[in-house]
Amino acid sequence: MSILIKNIRQLAGVRENSTLLRGKELSELPFINNAWIHIENNIIVGYGSMDSLNIKEFKNSIDATGRLVMPCWCDSHTHLVFAGSRENEFVDKIKGKTYAEIAAHGGGILNSANKLNDTTEDELFNQAWKRLEQIAKTGTGAVEIKSGYGLTVEGELKMLRVIKKLKQKSNLIIKATFLGAHAYPEAFRDNHQGYIRQIIDEMLPVIGKENLADYIDVFCEEGFFSISETEQILTAGKQYGLKPKIHANQLNNSGGVQIGVKHNAISVDHLETIAAAEIECLKNSNTIATALPTAAFFLRMNYPPVRKMIENDIAVALATDYNPGSSPSGNMPLLIALSCIQMKMTPEEAINAATINGAYAMEVQDEAGSITAGKKANLIITKPIPSLAYMPYSFGENLIDKVIINGNII
Ligand code: NIG
Ligand code: FE
Repeated sequence: MSILIKNIRQLAGVRENSTLLRGKELSELPFINNAWIHIENNIIVGYGSMDSLNIKEFKNSIDATGRLVMPCWCDSHTHLVFAGSRENEFVDKIKGKTYAEIAAHGGGILNSANKLNDTTEDELFNQAWKRLEQIAKTGTGAVEIKSGYGLTVEGELKMLRVIKKLKQKSNLIIKATFLGAHAYPEAFRDNHQGYIRQIIDEMLPVIGKENLADYIDVFCEEGFFSISETEQILTAGKQYGLKPKIHANQLNNSGGVQIGVKHNAISVDHLETIAAAEIECLKNSNTIATALPTAAFFLRMNYPPVRKMIENDIAVALATDYNPGSSPSGNMPLLIALSCIQMKMTPEEAINAATINGAYAMEVQDEAGSITAGKKANLIITKPIPSLAYMPYSFGENLIDKVIINGNII
C-alpha cells in the first residue's frame, strides 16, 4: 500500500545516513517542521517540507495537522516470551523482601521457569503474541527477545522456537537471543559445570543447526553466573556465530562490563551498579551501554548513571527489559518519560537512545531506527501535541494515535 502523510507538525528523527550516536550526538534529533512523508509498500520512499510536496492527488493520504511523526521504537532488550505472571512476588517485595531474597528461595527466574516448562509451545506463543500486539500499539516496531525461562534443554529450545515463529508471523522486526545462562536450575544449584555442559553440549548445537538465535546472553551477576562461567559460555556461543549481548552490573559491580567489552559484546545491559572503571572501559569500546530504567524503577534501585555515560562519549541505548520479574511492562513511552525524569536525559537524547541506538544494539540499523529513505515504514503518528518534549512531560497519557509497522496501519 502507498500512503502519504502530510501537514505533519514535526517529522522527527530524520537522517540521511544513520550512525551510532555517542555523547553529545545524542542530543541532536534532526527534524523537519510542516512536513510530509511517503511510504510505498513497506518502505519509506521520500519525505520533505510541505512546500516541496509535488504529489497533488493521492488516494491514501493521512492529514497529520498538529501531530508529530517519528520512527517506531527499537526495544533491544526484552524477555517477552514467558508463562503467566508473578504479581505475588511484587506484593512480597512491597512487604519488604528483596529481589535477591526472592530468587534465593526458588522465586524469581526459577518460578517463571517452572511455569514455562508446564506450558505448551502453542500456549506460550499465544501469550507472547498478545504482548507483541500490545507493544506494537505503544509504538514498538523492532524488538529483541531472549530465552532464559526454560533452563532445561527442552524448555530453552521451546522458547527459541516460539521466538522463531513470532519472527515468521509478525510484522515487527525481531531478533532472538539465547539466554540459557539466566539462572542455575534447582537440580544444578551445586553443580554449575553440569548445567554449563548442557548449555554447551546439548543446547548450542541444536540452536546452531536450527538457526534459533542471533545473540548469546549471560546473567553475569553474583549468585548467578561468575566471570569465568560467563567467559566459558560466551566463548562457546561464538563458535555458533552468536555475538554477545549480556546482562551486566545490575545487582553488583561484578566485572560484567569488562568481560562484555573484552568479548566484543554488541551491548552490555542494565549497568545500575557501575563506577569509574566501567565508564572508562565503555568509553574506549564499541560496545553499547543499554540502560533499562523501568527495571530499576520496578525494583526500587538506583538508576544507571546515564548522564555520566553521555559526558564520557559512550553510546547509550534504552530498552524496556520487558519480563515478569523486574519489568512487567514493554511500554516505551513510559520508559522515555522515566529516562527524562529520573536519569535527566533530554527528550531528544531519550528518543535517540530508544530508536537509532536501540536499532544498533540489535543490528537492525539498516532497516529501522530513523526516518531514512529505504528503511522500513515503521512510524508513530502522535495525537495533536504542541512539541516533542510534551510526550515525556505528559507522562502516562497515551499520546500515540496511529502506528504503522512494515507499511501497515495497526
Ligand atoms: O533483566 N536480570 C535478569 N533477568 C531479568 C529479570 C528476570 C526475572 O526476574 O524474571 C532482568 O531484569
Ligand atoms: Fe533482562
